[in-house]
Amino acid sequence: MKVDRIIIKEGSTSFTVPREHSQKGPGSRGESVFFNRQMAFNRDVSIMFLRSLDQKMRIVDSMSATGSRALRIANEVPSVSVVANDIDPRAAKMIEDNVRLNGLNNVTVTNEDLSCLLSREVFDYVDLDPFGSPMPFFHASIRGVKRHGILALTATDTAVLAGARRRKCERRYMARPLSGPICHEAGLRILLGSLGRELARFDRGMVPLLSFYSDHYFRVHVRCLAGAAKADETLEQIGWMSYDRKTLRRSVSCDPEEHPYGPMWLGQLHDPSTLNAMRSDEGLEEPRRCARMLELWREELNTPLTYEVSELSSFLKLPTPPIDRLIRKLQENGSGSRNHISPTAFRSTLPLEKILECYREVVEIDNL
Ligand SMILES: C[S@@+](CC[C@H](N)C(=O)[O-])C[C@H]1O[C@@H](n2cnc3c(N)ncnc32)[C@H](O)[C@@H]1O
Repeated sequence: MKVDRIIIKEGSTSFTVPREHSQKGPGSRGESVFFNRQMAFNRDVSIMFLRSLDQKMRIVDSMSATGSRALRIANEVPSVSVVANDIDPRAAKMIEDNVRLNGLNNVTVTNEDLSCLLSREVFDYVDLDPFGSPMPFFHASIRGVKRHGILALTATDTAVLAGARRRKCERRYMARPLSGPICHEAGLRILLGSLGRELARFDRGMVPLLSFYSDHYFRVHVRCLAGAAKADETLEQIGWMSYDRKTLRRSVSCDPEEHPYGPMWLGQLHDPSTLNAMRSDEGLEEPRRCARMLELWREELNTPLTYEVSELSSFLKLPTPPIDRLIRKLQENGSGSRNHISPTAFRSTLPLEKILECYREVVEIDNL
C-alpha cells in the first residue's frame, strides 16, 4: 500500500512523514510509520543536550520511525555519526528517503530489532523512544552503551508511573507509585530508580544529566558509569517516599519503614554543568519554550520534596497566592524554587510548619 506523505521542516531539517500523523497527545501505533509533531520540543532538547557535550560521538536512535530525531541530530549537531534503526521495514525505507532528502552522509540506516543491534555494537549515546514503557528495552540498551556513554529515553506510560494503574507499575517497574499532587515527581523518580537498579545488575552506575516531565511523557538522560563502586553509589541514592494527604506531611528515606512509595531515585534530576552548557538558540523548532524550560531546570532545587499550591490552599482553607511571591518568601526563609513539572508546584526543604507559615503570611499581605 502506498503511504500518502508530506514534507515538513523541524528545526533546520526537512523530512517526509505520513500525511496522517499525531499532532498532539501521546500518539498511537497506527497503520503507517509513526510521527508525532508534538515531540518537536523533545527532539529540540536532544539537539541542545548533544550540542552541549561538544564531542565527537557515535549515536544510535534505536527506535527511529521516520528518522526525525536521528536526522535532526545528524544535521544539527556537529561531529556526530548516527545509526538510525527501526524494526519496521517501512520505517527504514522512509528514513533512507529522508537521509537522501537532506543530503546527509553521516547516517547509517538499519532495520532490525534493537536487541540484536545493541548486542553487537556499542555507542556513545543510545536513544530509546518506544510506544509506552522503555522497561522491556532497558537490558538491551544498557548493553549497547559504552562504558561512560549516555542513555536517553522516553517513557509515555505516564498513567502507570504516575499511579493511575498501581498494579501495572508494581509489575513493570517493581515500584509502588503515588497518586495525587506529587504523582509526576514520583513517576519521574520511579523511572530513574528502576533504570539505576537495572544498571546496578551489570555493575554499572549512573548520573542523571537531565530528567523532565513534559506534555504526556517522561524523558531522562543519564551518564552510565562503570564499576561496582559506581553501582553501589547509585543504589545508595534510591529510596522511598511517604506522603500523608490529611496532614500534608511528606518525607524521603533510604529505609522503606513507614515510607510506602517507591523505590525511587532521590538524587539529582539534572547536572548543573550540563544545563549551563545548553543553549536555546540556533535554529531550534521551539526556541522560546526551550529557553523557558532551561531556566526552570537550572533554577529548581535539588530535592524530591515538592508541594502543589492547591493542596496547601485546601488544607489551610485560604485563597491561592501568586506562586512567585510564595517562592520568594520561602527563599527568604532559606529554601524554595519552582518545579518544572507544574506551574503551580514548588520545591522546598523547609519544615512543613514553616512552609504553612510562609503561605499564611503571603496570603495575609495579599489581602491587606
Ligand atoms: C514511538 S515510535 C518512535 C518515534 C521516533 N523516535 C520519533 O521521534 O518520531 C517507536 C518506534 O519503535 C519501533 N520499534 C518497536 N519495537 C522495536 C524494536 N524491538 N527494535 C527496533 N525498533 C522497534 C516501531 O516500529 C516504531 O517506529
